[in-house]
Amino acid sequence: MPSNKEKLQRTVREKLKDYQVVVASNREPYLHYLKEGKIAYLKPPGGAAHTLDSILQACGGTWVAYGSGNADKKVVDAQGRVRLPPDEPSYTLKRVWLSKEEVDGYYYGFSNQALWPLCHIVYTRPIFRQSDWKYYQQVNKMFAEAVLKEIGRNRAFVWIQDYHLALLAKYIKEKRKDVICAQFWHIPWPNPEAFRICPMKKEILQGLLANDMLAFHVRYYDENFISAVEREIEARTDKEKTSLICHGHETIIRAFPISVDFQKVSHEVDSTAVKERTMRFKEEFSLGEDMKVIFGLDRIDYTKGIPERLKAIGRLLEKYPQYKERFVFIQMGALSRVHISQYRDLNDEINDLVEEINWKYSTENWSPIIFVRRTLSFLETLALYRLGDICVVSSLHDGMNIVAKEYICAKNNLDAVLLLSQFTGAARELPEALMINPYDIEDFAEKIKDSIEMSREEKAQRMKKLRETIADNDIYKWADKFINELAKTLKVLR
Ligand code: G6P
Repeated sequence: MPSNKEKLQRTVREKLKDYQVVVASNREPYLHYLKEGKIAYLKPPGGAAHTLDSILQACGGTWVAYGSGNADKKVVDAQGRVRLPPDEPSYTLKRVWLSKEEVDGYYYGFSNQALWPLCHIVYTRPIFRQSDWKYYQQVNKMFAEAVLKEIGRNRAFVWIQDYHLALLAKYIKEKRKDVICAQFWHIPWPNPEAFRICPMKKEILQGLLANDMLAFHVRYYDENFISAVEREIEARTDKEKTSLICHGHETIIRAFPISVDFQKVSHEVDSTAVKERTMRFKEEFSLGEDMKVIFGLDRIDYTKGIPERLKAIGRLLEKYPQYKERFVFIQMGALSRVHISQYRDLNDEINDLVEEINWKYSTENWSPIIFVRRTLSFLETLALYRLGDICVVSSLHDGMNIVAKEYICAKNNLDAVLLLSQFTGAARELPEALMINPYDIEDFAEKIKDSIEMSREEKAQRMKKLRETIADNDIYKWADKFINELAKTLKVLR
């Protein structure tokens, strides 16, 4: 039986034939930086770039992304290209260079102060600045130029990623109608009531409808998008095909829940290097043998529900003091988007909560919360999964959530619990997780207690089902379905 990875490789060969594959995203899969005078590299935190890296490693191609590392320019050729992954090159990254003003307007401004809060309904007000919008348009144009340059005169399929590049397909098609463009939107799409406040809504919808296919994680986001188009611009919906036709151009709308590399995670988590790193974590955090480890791993972002989970830990200890010294809660996470005030405020809020809860409940030899704020390497991430008895994903709203899926892959011995917010895309596929409403602190605290007390049999039963789901629907199958669907619906690929 061919693996999902082999099936994807076959699909790319057979369906995309002589088409050049170009992935475009804001975030690059690896960034180079200076460490003690030497060039080092790291994988930035965040799901999207991480998962796509596996696909490009399997299938090859070109990836166009913003070069954000302070040593990025030092490793590229004259065209801004570098072969990746650094240790075993299998594809090309073409870096797009942006000025400080462009990053401020396009990335911090329109992408992350307008679109990010607009699409995540977590009561953070979006800010729509005309100047940010101008930079957003300008940078999308720069990406289009970079993509077109990479393509040259070839036939090409451009696979656009996420909310930073909502206008890219339009700018590409203006120059080359024949280039196939398909976009995957990695974050939620809000309901039409929420979306209608955006002053640039028409341009954004029209930009996205320049794609031949547009996909979201779940059907619900598809429906929200279709309703937004129906309300805001002149377009026809083909209900039979689930497509939208705008100015004579058809865009197929689909849902493909993104996933992770099951085989890789479940294999590597048992390696000697990961086992050793797990031991080092145990020493570093002074964890005794019987200490239960509950953990969270997130970018420090206001959508992730980090204060809520700290409050739930506090409430658990208040209500059931007998749990003192029986567990620790480790929160790990990389700082993110720190030039935006809401992210700085969140950091302060988290610091205050950690201090308050630790002050209230610590004993002579034990503190309930360990907070480590930094980017973890893949090895460290796997070590944390290995260490953790209970994983808490308490997003207030999340397109999918990759940590939830990776944790499942890592628990080969089935002795683990996933506490999962019902407001994540992942919740729809993973009903055997213990579901929480992160806004309901009282119930959240009870669910943490339930997971500490859960029997070995129940844990194994739930984990087994969860693992079957992910093993079957891994990242390669996700990409395979995406490309097959495109090939099925586009005449030129048939
Ligand atoms: C979300 C987005 C990704 C992004 C990630 C990390 O998951 O959908 O596109 O890469 O956050 O955020 P950052 O702003 O650091 O790229």
